Amino acid sequence: MKAIELREKYIEFFEKHGHKRIPSAPVVPENDPTVLFTTAGMHPLVPYLLGEPHPQGKRLTDYQKCIRTGDIDSVGDPSHLTFFEMMGNWSLGDYFKQESIAMSYAFLKEVLGFDMNRISVTVFEGEDGIPRDEEAASAWEKAGIPRERIFFCGREDNWWGPAGETGPCGPDTEIFFDTGKEKCSEHCNPTCGCGKYLEIWNNVFMQYNKTKEGTYELLKAPNVDTGLGLERVIGLLQGKNNVYETELFADVIAKITELSENVNISSARIISDHLRASMFMIVDGVRPSNVEQGYVLRRLLRRVIRHMRKIGFDPNNTKVLVETFVGIMQEMYPEISANKETLVNVIEEEKDKFLKTLEHGEKEFAKNIEKAKSNSETKLAGPVVFRLYDTFGFPPEMTAELAEENGMTIDMDEFNELFKKHQELSRAGAEQKFKGGLADHSEKTTAYHTATHLLHKALQIVLGEHATQKGSNLTAERLRFDFCHPQKVTPEELKQVEDIVNEQIKRDLEVVCEEMSLEEAQAAGATGLFAAKYGDKVKVYTIGDFSKEICGGPHVERTGNMGTFKIKKEEAVSSGVRRIKAVLIEE
Ligand code: ALA
Repeated sequence: MKAIELREKYIEFFEKHGHKRIPSAPVVPENDPTVLFTTAGMHPLVPYLLGEPHPQGKRLTDYQKCIRTGDIDSVGDPSHLTFFEMMGNWSLGDYFKQESIAMSYAFLKEVLGFDMNRISVTVFEGEDGIPRDEEAASAWEKAGIPRERIFFCGREDNWWGPAGETGPCGPDTEIFFDTGKEKCSEHCNPTCGCGKYLEIWNNVFMQYNKTKEGTYELLKAPNVDTGLGLERVIGLLQGKNNVYETELFADVIAKITELSENVNISSARIISDHLRASMFMIVDGVRPSNVEQGYVLRRLLRRVIRHMRKIGFDPNNTKVLVETFVGIMQEMYPEISANKETLVNVIEEEKDKFLKTLEHGEKEFAKNIEKAKSNSETKLAGPVVFRLYDTFGFPPEMTAELAEENGMTIDMDEFNELFKKHQELSRAGAEQKFKGGLADHSEKTTAYHTATHLLHKALQIVLGEHATQKGSNLTAERLRFDFCHPQKVTPEELKQVEDIVNEQIKRDLEVVCEEMSLEEAQAAGATGLFAAKYGDKVKVYTIGDFSKEICGGPHVERTGNMGTFKIKKEEAVSSGVRRIKAVLIEE
Protein backbone atom coordinates (compact mmCIF):
# COMPACT_ATOMS: atom_id res chain seq x y z
CA MET A 1 0.00 0.00 0.00
CA LYS A 2 1.19 3.50 -0.77
CA ALA A 3 0.85 6.47 1.55
CA ILE A 4 -1.77 8.11 -0.62
CA GLU A 5 -3.94 4.97 -0.47
CA LEU A 6 -3.56 4.73 3.28
CA ARG A 7 -4.80 8.30 3.56
CA GLU A 8 -7.87 7.52 1.46
CA LYS A 9 -8.59 4.27 3.31
CA TYR A 10 -8.52 6.14 6.61
CA ILE A 11 -10.93 8.81 5.49
CA GLU A 12 -13.23 6.27 3.83
CA PHE A 13 -13.34 4.13 6.96
CA PHE A 14 -14.37 7.02 9.15
CA GLU A 15 -16.80 8.32 6.58
CA LYS A 16 -18.43 4.92 6.69
CA HIS A 17 -18.75 5.43 10.42
CA GLY A 18 -20.63 8.67 10.02
CA HIS A 19 -17.73 11.15 9.93
CA LYS A 20 -17.64 14.12 7.59
CA ARG A 21 -14.42 14.74 5.74
CA ILE A 22 -12.95 18.18 6.38
CA PRO A 23 -10.05 19.63 4.41
CA SER A 24 -6.52 20.05 5.68
CA ALA A 25 -5.38 23.48 6.93
CA PRO A 26 -2.05 25.21 6.20
CA VAL A 27 1.02 24.44 8.35
CA VAL A 28 1.00 28.03 9.60
CA PRO A 29 -2.15 28.42 11.67
CA GLU A 30 -4.38 31.33 10.82
CA ASN A 31 -5.52 33.56 13.62
CA ASP A 32 -3.60 31.69 16.26
CA PRO A 33 -0.73 33.83 17.49
CA THR A 34 0.20 31.37 20.22
CA VAL A 35 1.76 28.69 18.06
CA LEU A 36 4.20 28.96 15.18
CA PHE A 37 3.03 25.88 13.35
CA THR A 38 0.14 23.48 13.20
CA THR A 39 1.42 20.65 15.39
CA ALA A 40 -1.65 18.42 15.46
CA GLY A 41 -4.88 17.85 13.60
CA MET A 42 -6.79 19.46 16.46
CA HIS A 43 -5.33 22.97 16.04
CA PRO A 44 -7.71 24.10 13.31
CA LEU A 45 -10.58 22.65 15.35
CA VAL A 46 -9.91 24.51 18.58
CA PRO A 47 -13.08 26.66 18.54
CA TYR A 48 -15.21 23.56 18.00
CA LEU A 49 -13.49 21.60 20.73
CA LEU A 50 -14.29 24.56 22.96
CA GLY A 51 -17.96 24.22 22.16
CA GLU A 52 -18.81 26.10 18.97
CA PRO A 53 -20.97 23.92 16.78
CA HIS A 54 -19.12 22.74 13.68
CA PRO A 55 -21.06 23.22 10.44
CA GLN A 56 -20.22 19.67 9.37
CA GLY A 57 -21.62 18.07 12.51
CA LYS A 58 -20.26 16.08 15.41
CA ARG A 59 -18.14 13.48 13.64
CA LEU A 60 -15.22 14.72 11.59
CA THR A 61 -12.20 13.22 9.88
CA ASP A 62 -9.24 14.61 7.95
CA TYR A 63 -5.55 14.44 7.32
CA GLN A 64 -3.45 17.37 8.44
CA LYS A 65 0.05 18.58 7.59
CA CYS A 66 1.95 19.09 10.84
CA ILE A 67 5.30 20.59 11.78
CA ARG A 68 6.95 19.72 15.08
CA THR A 69 10.31 21.13 15.97
CA GLY A 70 10.34 19.83 19.55
CA ASP A 71 11.82 16.50 18.49
CA ILE A 72 14.39 17.97 16.12
CA ASP A 73 17.29 16.34 17.92
CA SER A 74 15.75 12.93 17.31
CA VAL A 75 15.55 13.48 13.55
CA GLY A 76 18.06 11.13 11.96
CA ASP A 77 16.68 8.12 13.82
CA PRO A 78 14.31 5.76 11.98
CA SER A 79 11.00 7.37 12.94
CA HIS A 80 11.14 11.05 13.91
CA LEU A 81 10.16 13.67 11.37
CA THR A 82 9.88 17.44 11.46
CA PHE A 83 7.07 17.43 8.93
CA PHE A 84 4.52 14.65 9.09
CA GLU A 85 0.94 14.02 8.25
CA MET A 86 -1.53 13.29 11.01
CA MET A 87 -4.73 11.53 10.12
CA GLY A 88 -7.47 12.17 12.60
CA ASN A 89 -11.03 11.54 13.61
CA TRP A 90 -13.06 13.60 16.04
CA SER A 91 -16.16 13.22 18.09
CA LEU A 92 -17.50 16.59 19.17
CA GLY A 93 -19.63 15.47 22.07
CA ASP A 94 -20.80 12.39 20.23
CA TYR A 95 -19.21 8.93 20.72
CA PHE A 96 -16.64 8.35 23.43
CA LYS A 97 -14.07 5.79 24.59
CA GLN A 98 -15.85 2.59 23.77
CA GLU A 99 -16.64 3.43 20.18
CA SER A 100 -13.40 5.27 19.53
CA ILE A 101 -11.31 2.31 20.66
CA ALA A 102 -13.48 -0.19 18.78
CA MET A 103 -13.08 1.85 15.58
CA SER A 104 -9.30 2.20 15.97
CA TYR A 105 -9.00 -1.53 16.55
CA ALA A 106 -11.19 -2.38 13.57
CA PHE A 107 -9.32 -0.01 11.28
CA LEU A 108 -5.91 -1.45 12.17
CA LYS A 109 -7.09 -5.03 11.95
CA GLU A 110 -9.64 -5.11 9.20
CA VAL A 111 -8.58 -2.32 6.89
CA LEU A 112 -4.81 -2.35 7.34
CA GLY A 113 -4.46 -6.02 8.22
CA PHE A 114 -2.11 -5.49 11.19
CA ASP A 115 -1.13 -8.51 13.22
CA MET A 116 -2.96 -7.45 16.35
CA ASN A 117 -0.70 -9.65 18.50
CA ARG A 118 1.95 -7.01 17.88
CA ILE A 119 -0.21 -4.16 19.14
CA SER A 120 0.16 -2.85 22.70
CA VAL A 121 -1.62 0.09 24.25
CA THR A 122 -1.11 2.44 27.16
CA VAL A 123 -3.92 3.93 29.23
CA PHE A 124 -4.03 6.46 32.05
CA GLU A 125 -3.33 4.98 35.49
CA GLY A 126 -5.00 7.81 37.42
CA GLU A 127 -3.54 10.72 39.33
CA ASP A 128 -4.57 13.90 41.18
CA GLY A 129 -8.03 12.64 42.01
CA ILE A 130 -8.72 11.60 38.45
CA PRO A 131 -9.43 7.89 38.40
CA ARG A 132 -7.59 5.17 36.57
CA ASP A 133 -9.04 4.79 33.10
CA GLU A 134 -10.64 1.38 33.51
CA GLU A 135 -13.21 2.32 30.91
CA ALA A 136 -10.55 2.60 28.20
CA ALA A 137 -8.77 -0.54 29.39
CA SER A 138 -11.93 -2.60 29.33
CA ALA A 139 -12.81 -1.20 25.90
CA TRP A 140 -9.44 -2.49 24.68
CA GLU A 141 -10.03 -5.87 26.26
CA LYS A 142 -13.42 -6.06 24.68
CA ALA A 143 -11.91 -5.17 21.32
CA GLY A 144 -9.34 -7.94 21.61
CA ILE A 145 -6.17 -6.65 23.34
CA PRO A 146 -5.34 -8.89 26.34
CA ARG A 147 -4.53 -7.33 29.75
CA GLU A 148 -0.82 -8.12 29.47
CA ARG A 149 -0.53 -5.76 26.54
CA ILE A 150 -2.46 -2.96 28.22
CA PHE A 151 -0.01 -0.80 30.18
CA PHE A 152 -1.19 1.73 32.77
CA CYS A 153 0.95 4.88 32.82
CA GLY A 154 0.95 8.26 34.50
CA ARG A 155 0.35 11.80 33.39
CA GLU A 156 3.61 12.06 31.57
CA ASP A 157 2.61 9.42 29.06
CA ASN A 158 -1.14 9.28 29.08
CA TRP A 159 -2.52 12.74 29.51
CA TRP A 160 -3.00 15.20 26.70
CA GLY A 161 -3.64 18.92 26.95
CA PRO A 162 -4.78 21.47 27.54
CA ALA A 163 -2.90 23.00 24.68
CA GLY A 164 -3.07 26.31 26.56
CA GLU A 165 -3.24 27.05 30.29
CA THR A 166 -6.90 26.19 30.43
CA GLY A 167 -9.30 24.24 28.27
CA PRO A 168 -10.26 20.77 27.21
CA CYS A 169 -7.93 17.94 28.15
CA GLY A 170 -8.05 14.42 29.34
CA PRO A 171 -6.54 11.01 29.52
CA ASP A 172 -5.42 9.43 26.30
CA THR A 173 -4.66 5.97 25.11
CA GLU A 174 -1.71 5.43 22.83
CA ILE A 175 -1.35 2.58 20.38
CA PHE A 176 2.06 0.99 19.75
CA PHE A 177 3.44 -1.51 17.29
CA ASP A 178 6.01 -4.02 18.51
CA THR A 179 8.89 -3.88 16.02
CA GLY A 180 10.17 -7.26 17.21
CA LYS A 181 13.39 -5.83 18.69
CA GLU A 182 14.74 -7.45 21.85
CA LYS A 183 13.42 -6.03 25.12
CA CYS A 184 15.82 -3.43 26.49
CA SER A 185 15.33 -4.72 30.06
CA GLU A 186 12.83 -6.69 32.05
CA HIS A 187 10.89 -3.45 32.50
CA CYS A 188 10.80 -2.74 28.77
CA ASN A 189 7.41 -1.28 27.87
CA PRO A 190 5.89 0.98 25.19
CA THR A 191 6.98 4.15 26.98
CA CYS A 192 10.64 3.28 27.61
CA GLY A 193 11.77 4.77 24.30
CA CYS A 194 14.22 1.99 23.39
CA GLY A 195 12.75 1.60 19.93
CA LYS A 196 11.08 -1.76 20.42
CA TYR A 197 7.65 -0.14 20.47
CA LEU A 198 6.67 2.43 17.88
CA GLU A 199 3.79 4.78 18.70
CA ILE A 200 1.36 5.01 15.83
CA TRP A 201 -1.91 6.44 17.13
CA ASN A 202 -3.10 8.57 19.99
CA ASN A 203 -6.73 8.75 21.07
CA VAL A 204 -7.40 11.64 23.44
CA PHE A 205 -10.52 11.62 25.55
CA MET A 206 -11.20 15.27 26.21
CA GLN A 207 -13.23 14.66 29.29
CA TYR A 208 -12.20 17.60 31.44
CA ASN A 209 -11.91 21.33 31.32
CA LYS A 210 -8.92 22.68 33.19
CA THR A 211 -10.02 25.89 34.89
CA LYS A 212 -7.99 29.00 35.69
CA GLU A 213 -7.79 27.80 39.29
CA GLY A 214 -6.11 24.63 38.11
CA THR A 215 -9.02 22.34 38.89
CA TYR A 216 -10.52 19.85 36.49
CA GLU A 217 -14.23 19.93 35.89
CA LEU A 218 -16.10 17.39 33.84
CA LEU A 219 -17.04 18.65 30.40
CA LYS A 220 -20.74 18.52 29.59
CA ALA A 221 -19.92 17.16 26.17
CA PRO A 222 -16.66 15.23 26.10
CA ASN A 223 -14.75 15.06 22.81
CA VAL A 224 -12.50 12.50 21.18
CA ASP A 225 -9.43 13.78 19.33
CA THR A 226 -7.20 11.24 17.63
CA GLY A 227 -4.02 11.37 15.57
CA LEU A 228 -2.46 8.57 13.49
CA GLY A 229 1.01 9.14 12.02
CA LEU A 230 0.86 8.48 8.29
CA GLU A 231 4.58 8.05 7.62
CA ARG A 232 5.15 5.62 10.48
CA VAL A 233 2.17 3.49 9.60
CA ILE A 234 3.05 3.31 5.93
CA GLY A 235 6.59 2.26 6.89
CA LEU A 236 5.19 -0.59 8.97
CA LEU A 237 2.70 -1.67 6.32
CA GLN A 238 5.47 -1.83 3.75
CA GLY A 239 7.60 -3.88 6.11
CA LYS A 240 10.32 -1.23 6.14
CA ASN A 241 12.51 -0.56 9.10
CA ASN A 242 12.05 3.13 8.87
CA VAL A 243 10.06 5.89 7.20
CA TYR A 244 12.98 6.83 4.92
CA GLU A 245 12.73 3.56 3.00
CA THR A 246 9.17 4.29 1.91
CA GLU A 247 8.27 5.93 -1.39
CA LEU A 248 7.97 9.25 0.47
CA PHE A 249 11.77 9.46 0.83
CA ALA A 250 13.57 6.59 -0.89
CA ASP A 251 14.48 8.39 -4.14
CA VAL A 252 15.86 11.38 -2.26
CA ILE A 253 17.96 9.22 0.06
CA ALA A 254 19.27 7.40 -3.04
CA LYS A 255 20.20 10.70 -4.70
CA ILE A 256 21.99 11.92 -1.60
CA THR A 257 23.90 8.64 -1.40
CA GLU A 258 24.80 8.81 -5.08
CA LEU A 259 26.08 12.37 -4.93
CA SER A 260 27.96 12.24 -1.61
CA GLU A 261 31.57 11.40 -1.00
CA ASN A 262 31.15 9.81 2.42
CA VAL A 263 27.48 9.51 3.19
CA ASN A 264 26.24 8.64 6.65
CA ILE A 265 22.65 7.60 7.08
CA SER A 266 21.80 10.00 9.87
CA SER A 267 22.92 13.03 7.82
CA ALA A 268 21.07 11.77 4.76
CA ARG A 269 17.91 11.50 6.84
CA ILE A 270 18.35 14.94 8.37
CA ILE A 271 18.91 16.50 4.94
CA SER A 272 15.82 14.88 3.47
CA ASP A 273 13.57 15.49 6.48
CA HIS A 274 14.56 19.14 6.83
CA LEU A 275 14.31 19.83 3.13
CA ARG A 276 10.86 18.28 2.96
CA ALA A 277 9.63 20.27 6.00
CA SER A 278 11.10 23.46 4.51
CA MET A 279 9.23 22.88 1.27
CA PHE A 280 5.89 22.69 3.07
CA MET A 281 6.65 25.84 5.03
CA ILE A 282 7.58 27.72 1.87
CA VAL A 283 4.45 26.60 0.05
CA ASP A 284 2.38 27.98 2.93
CA GLY A 285 4.09 31.34 2.64
CA VAL A 286 7.00 31.18 5.10
CA ARG A 287 10.27 32.78 3.96
CA PRO A 288 13.68 32.53 5.66
CA SER A 289 14.15 35.34 8.18
CA ASN A 290 15.37 35.93 11.70
CA VAL A 291 12.01 35.81 13.43
CA GLU A 292 9.25 33.34 14.17
CA GLN A 293 8.39 30.81 11.45
CA GLY A 294 10.99 32.32 9.12
CA TYR A 295 13.72 31.64 11.65
CA VAL A 296 12.72 28.00 11.99
CA LEU A 297 12.84 27.69 8.21
CA ARG A 298 16.24 29.34 8.08
CA ARG A 299 17.61 27.00 10.73
CA LEU A 300 16.29 23.95 8.92
CA LEU A 301 17.79 24.99 5.58
CA ARG A 302 21.13 25.86 7.12
CA ARG A 303 21.23 22.55 8.90
CA VAL A 304 20.65 20.92 5.53
CA ILE A 305 23.70 22.69 4.08
CA ARG A 306 25.85 21.86 7.07
CA HIS A 307 25.05 18.17 6.80
CA MET A 308 25.65 18.29 3.05
CA ARG A 309 29.13 19.63 3.65
CA LYS A 310 29.71 17.03 6.32
CA ILE A 311 29.07 14.13 3.93
CA GLY A 312 30.71 15.68 0.91
CA PHE A 313 27.51 16.56 -0.95
CA ASP A 314 27.97 19.76 -2.94
CA PRO A 315 25.29 22.20 -1.66
CA ASN A 316 25.04 23.52 -5.20
CA ASN A 317 23.25 20.27 -5.98
CA THR A 318 20.43 21.09 -3.54
CA LYS A 319 18.14 21.80 -6.46
CA VAL A 320 18.40 18.18 -7.60
CA LEU A 321 16.97 17.05 -4.27
CA VAL A 322 14.18 19.62 -4.37
CA GLU A 323 13.25 18.41 -7.82
CA THR A 324 13.34 14.79 -6.73
CA PHE A 325 10.95 15.65 -3.88
CA VAL A 326 8.66 17.48 -6.27
CA GLY A 327 8.52 14.30 -8.36
CA ILE A 328 7.79 12.11 -5.35
CA MET A 329 5.08 14.37 -4.03
CA GLN A 330 3.21 15.45 -7.09
CA GLU A 331 0.32 13.07 -6.64
CA MET A 332 -0.10 13.42 -2.93
CA TYR A 333 0.70 17.11 -2.56
CA PRO A 334 -0.22 18.95 -5.75
CA GLU A 335 0.57 22.24 -4.01
CA ILE A 336 4.25 21.25 -4.05
CA SER A 337 4.51 20.71 -7.80
CA ALA A 338 2.38 23.80 -8.46
CA ASN A 339 4.99 25.88 -6.62
CA LYS A 340 8.12 24.21 -7.89
CA GLU A 341 9.71 27.39 -9.15
CA THR A 342 9.15 29.30 -5.91
CA LEU A 343 10.51 26.38 -3.91
CA VAL A 344 13.67 26.19 -5.98
CA ASN A 345 14.16 29.97 -5.88
CA VAL A 346 13.67 30.41 -2.15
CA ILE A 347 15.89 27.46 -1.26
CA GLU A 348 18.61 28.44 -3.75
CA GLU A 349 18.66 32.00 -2.45
CA GLU A 350 18.99 30.92 1.16
CA LYS A 351 21.66 28.39 0.23
CA ASP A 352 23.70 31.08 -1.56
CA LYS A 353 23.33 33.43 1.38
CA PHE A 354 24.46 30.77 3.81
CA LEU A 355 27.40 29.72 1.67
CA LYS A 356 28.50 33.35 1.72
CA THR A 357 28.14 33.45 5.49
CA LEU A 358 30.29 30.36 5.65
CA GLU A 359 32.89 32.10 3.52
CA HIS A 360 32.94 35.02 5.97
CA GLY A 361 33.17 32.46 8.75
CA GLU A 362 36.22 30.93 7.18
CA LYS A 363 37.84 34.36 7.12
CA GLU A 364 36.87 34.90 10.74
CA PHE A 365 38.36 31.53 11.55
CA ALA A 366 41.63 32.37 9.79
CA LYS A 367 41.87 35.65 11.69
CA ASN A 368 41.33 33.95 15.03
CA ILE A 369 43.70 31.12 14.36
CA GLU A 370 46.47 33.57 13.42
CA LYS A 371 45.88 35.51 16.60
CA ALA A 372 45.93 32.36 18.70
CA LYS A 373 49.12 31.21 17.01
CA SER A 374 50.86 34.52 17.55
CA ASN A 375 49.95 34.23 21.24
CA SER A 376 51.47 30.72 21.20
CA GLU A 377 48.12 29.20 22.16
CA THR A 378 47.34 25.60 21.22
CA LYS A 379 43.63 25.70 21.89
CA LEU A 380 41.00 27.88 20.25
CA ALA A 381 39.00 29.51 23.06
CA GLY A 382 35.35 28.57 23.71
CA PRO A 383 33.90 32.04 22.92
CA VAL A 384 35.62 31.98 19.52
CA VAL A 385 34.25 28.53 18.75
CA PHE A 386 30.82 29.62 19.92
CA ARG A 387 30.88 32.79 17.85
CA LEU A 388 31.82 30.78 14.78
CA TYR A 389 28.91 28.49 15.53
CA ASP A 390 26.35 31.12 16.43
CA THR A 391 27.13 33.86 13.93
CA PHE A 392 28.67 31.92 11.07
CA GLY A 393 26.93 28.59 11.45
CA PHE A 394 30.14 26.62 12.01
CA PRO A 395 29.42 23.40 13.87
CA PRO A 396 32.17 22.87 16.48
CA GLU A 397 33.17 19.59 14.79
CA MET A 398 34.00 21.59 11.69
CA THR A 399 35.96 24.18 13.65
CA ALA A 400 37.82 21.33 15.37
CA GLU A 401 38.77 19.85 12.01
CA LEU A 402 39.99 23.18 10.70
CA ALA A 403 41.91 23.77 13.92
CA GLU A 404 43.54 20.39 13.63
CA GLU A 405 44.79 21.25 10.16
CA ASN A 406 46.55 24.13 11.90
CA GLY A 407 47.96 21.90 14.60
CA MET A 408 45.50 23.12 17.22
CA THR A 409 42.53 21.90 19.25
CA ILE A 410 39.40 23.66 20.41
CA ASP A 411 38.10 24.28 23.92
CA MET A 412 35.06 22.05 23.71
CA ASP A 413 34.17 22.30 27.43
CA GLU A 414 33.99 26.04 27.28
CA PHE A 415 31.97 25.83 24.08
CA ASN A 416 29.54 23.36 25.64
CA GLU A 417 28.97 25.66 28.56
CA LEU A 418 28.16 28.59 26.30
CA PHE A 419 26.02 26.39 24.11
CA LYS A 420 24.01 25.17 27.08
CA LYS A 421 23.42 28.68 28.30
CA HIS A 422 22.29 29.74 24.85
CA GLN A 423 19.96 26.75 24.56
CA GLU A 424 18.35 27.49 27.88
CA LEU A 425 17.68 31.02 26.74
CA SER A 426 16.17 30.00 23.44
CA ARG A 427 14.18 27.22 25.07
CA ALA A 428 12.74 29.73 27.51
CA GLY A 429 11.69 31.79 24.51
CA ALA A 430 10.21 28.81 22.73
CA GLU A 431 8.30 27.70 25.80
CA GLN A 432 6.87 31.15 26.17
CA LYS A 433 5.64 30.91 22.63
CA PHE A 434 4.13 27.48 22.96
CA LYS A 435 2.74 27.95 26.44
CA GLY A 436 -0.41 29.52 25.11
CA GLY A 437 -1.15 26.68 22.76
CA LEU A 438 -4.80 27.36 22.32
CA ALA A 439 -5.93 30.29 20.25
CA ASP A 440 -6.98 33.27 22.26
CA HIS A 441 -10.68 33.80 21.84
CA SER A 442 -10.92 36.85 24.03
CA GLU A 443 -13.31 39.68 23.23
CA LYS A 444 -10.46 41.74 21.90
CA THR A 445 -9.28 39.09 19.46
CA THR A 446 -12.86 38.58 18.34
CA ALA A 447 -13.14 42.30 17.56
CA TYR A 448 -9.90 42.10 15.54
CA HIS A 449 -11.36 39.21 13.65
CA THR A 450 -14.36 41.30 12.60
CA ALA A 451 -12.06 44.24 11.85
CA THR A 452 -10.16 41.99 9.46
CA HIS A 453 -13.32 41.44 7.42
CA LEU A 454 -14.02 45.17 7.34
CA LEU A 455 -10.44 45.89 6.28
CA HIS A 456 -10.55 43.25 3.55
CA LYS A 457 -13.65 44.80 2.03
CA ALA A 458 -12.38 48.37 2.42
CA LEU A 459 -9.13 47.46 0.61
CA GLN A 460 -11.11 46.04 -2.26
CA ILE A 461 -13.18 49.20 -2.48
CA VAL A 462 -10.16 51.51 -2.42
CA LEU A 463 -7.54 49.47 -4.32
CA GLY A 464 -9.69 47.21 -6.48
CA GLU A 465 -10.96 43.65 -6.44
CA HIS A 466 -7.49 42.21 -6.85
CA ALA A 467 -6.73 43.18 -3.25
CA THR A 468 -7.69 39.78 -1.88
CA GLN A 469 -6.54 38.25 1.36
CA LYS A 470 -3.32 36.23 1.39
CA GLY A 471 -3.14 35.60 5.11
CA SER A 472 -3.90 37.05 8.50
CA ASN A 473 -2.70 36.83 12.03
CA LEU A 474 -4.45 38.18 15.12
CA THR A 475 -3.55 38.82 18.71
CA ALA A 476 -5.43 40.68 21.43
CA GLU A 477 -3.23 43.70 20.61
CA ARG A 478 -3.28 44.01 16.83
CA LEU A 479 -4.21 42.53 13.51
CA ARG A 480 -1.92 41.73 10.65
CA PHE A 481 -3.34 41.31 7.19
CA ASP A 482 -1.58 40.27 3.97
CA PHE A 483 -3.17 40.96 0.60
CA CYS A 484 -2.37 41.13 -3.10
CA HIS A 485 -1.35 44.49 -4.45
CA PRO A 486 1.46 45.27 -6.87
CA GLN A 487 2.77 48.46 -5.26
CA LYS A 488 2.98 50.44 -2.08
CA VAL A 489 -0.37 51.65 -0.79
CA THR A 490 -0.24 55.45 -0.66
CA PRO A 491 -0.94 57.37 2.55
CA GLU A 492 -4.09 58.76 0.94
CA GLU A 493 -5.34 55.29 0.12
CA LEU A 494 -4.57 54.09 3.64
CA LYS A 495 -6.52 57.03 5.05
CA GLN A 496 -9.49 56.16 2.85
CA VAL A 497 -9.36 52.55 3.99
CA GLU A 498 -9.25 53.62 7.63
CA ASP A 499 -12.18 55.99 7.14
CA ILE A 500 -14.31 53.31 5.49
CA VAL A 501 -13.63 50.81 8.28
CA ASN A 502 -14.39 53.39 10.97
CA GLU A 503 -17.59 54.37 9.21
CA GLN A 504 -18.77 50.74 9.32
CA ILE A 505 -17.89 50.52 13.00
CA LYS A 506 -19.91 53.69 13.69
CA ARG A 507 -22.89 52.34 11.76
CA ASP A 508 -23.09 49.62 14.44
CA LEU A 509 -23.82 46.98 11.85
CA GLU A 510 -25.24 43.65 12.88
CA VAL A 511 -23.05 40.61 12.26
CA VAL A 512 -25.06 37.59 11.17
CA CYS A 513 -23.79 34.06 10.87
CA GLU A 514 -25.50 31.56 8.56
CA GLU A 515 -24.63 28.03 7.58
CA MET A 516 -24.96 27.03 3.96
CA SER A 517 -23.31 24.92 1.31
CA LEU A 518 -20.15 26.23 -0.32
CA GLU A 519 -22.04 26.67 -3.59
CA GLU A 520 -24.80 28.68 -1.90
CA ALA A 521 -22.19 30.82 -0.21
CA GLN A 522 -20.44 31.52 -3.48
CA ALA A 523 -23.75 32.25 -5.17
CA ALA A 524 -24.53 34.72 -2.37
CA GLY A 525 -21.30 36.52 -3.25
CA ALA A 526 -19.38 35.53 -0.15
CA THR A 527 -15.63 35.89 -0.39
CA GLY A 528 -13.47 33.34 1.29
CA LEU A 529 -9.77 32.95 1.54
CA PHE A 530 -8.33 29.40 1.35
CA ALA A 531 -11.59 28.17 -0.21
CA ALA A 532 -10.25 24.64 -0.55
CA LYS A 533 -10.04 24.46 3.21
CA TYR A 534 -13.73 24.45 3.71
CA GLY A 535 -15.95 21.43 3.49
CA ASP A 536 -19.35 21.23 1.94
CA LYS A 537 -21.16 23.19 4.59
CA VAL A 538 -19.68 26.54 5.57
CA LYS A 539 -20.37 29.43 7.88
CA VAL A 540 -20.94 32.77 6.24
CA TYR A 541 -20.55 35.94 8.27
CA THR A 542 -22.42 38.96 6.94
CA ILE A 543 -21.66 42.39 8.34
CA GLY A 544 -24.68 44.58 7.60
CA ASP A 545 -24.78 45.42 3.91
CA PHE A 546 -21.01 45.80 3.82
CA SER A 547 -19.23 42.46 3.84
CA LYS A 548 -19.95 38.76 3.38
CA GLU A 549 -17.22 36.22 4.01
CA ILE A 550 -16.89 32.52 4.49
CA CYS A 551 -15.22 32.12 7.86
CA GLY A 552 -15.15 29.94 10.95
CA GLY A 553 -15.66 32.88 13.34
CA PRO A 554 -15.99 33.95 16.05
CA HIS A 555 -17.11 37.55 15.45
CA VAL A 556 -18.66 40.38 17.45
CA GLU A 557 -22.45 40.63 17.40
CA ARG A 558 -22.47 44.28 16.36
CA THR A 559 -19.65 46.48 15.12
CA GLY A 560 -20.49 49.44 17.37
CA ASN A 561 -18.18 48.80 20.30
CA MET A 562 -15.04 47.77 18.51
CA GLY A 563 -13.13 51.02 19.03
CA THR A 564 -11.36 53.18 16.44
CA PHE A 565 -9.49 51.45 13.66
CA LYS A 566 -5.98 52.73 13.01
CA ILE A 567 -3.43 51.47 10.48
CA LYS A 568 0.04 51.45 12.03
CA LYS A 569 2.14 50.13 9.20
CA GLU A 570 2.07 49.14 5.54
CA GLU A 571 4.91 47.16 4.03
CA ALA A 572 5.89 44.60 1.41
CA VAL A 573 5.91 40.90 2.29
CA SER A 574 7.00 39.55 -1.05
CA SER A 575 6.57 40.58 -4.62
CA GLY A 576 2.90 41.42 -5.17
CA VAL A 577 1.94 40.95 -1.53
CA ARG A 578 1.56 43.79 0.98
CA ARG A 579 1.03 43.68 4.72
CA ILE A 580 -0.96 45.98 6.96
CA LYS A 581 -0.69 46.10 10.73
CA ALA A 582 -3.55 47.81 12.46
CA VAL A 583 -4.98 48.32 15.93
CA LEU A 584 -8.34 49.06 17.49
CA ILE A 585 -8.07 51.94 19.94
CA GLU A 586 -10.61 52.01 22.71
CA GLU A 587 -12.65 55.18 22.99
N1 ALA B 1 -3.91 15.80 19.60
C1 ALA B 1 -3.39 14.50 19.81
C2 ALA B 1 -1.91 14.44 19.53
O1 ALA B 1 -1.37 15.37 19.03
C3 ALA B 1 -4.12 13.48 18.99
O2 ALA B 1 -1.31 13.45 19.82
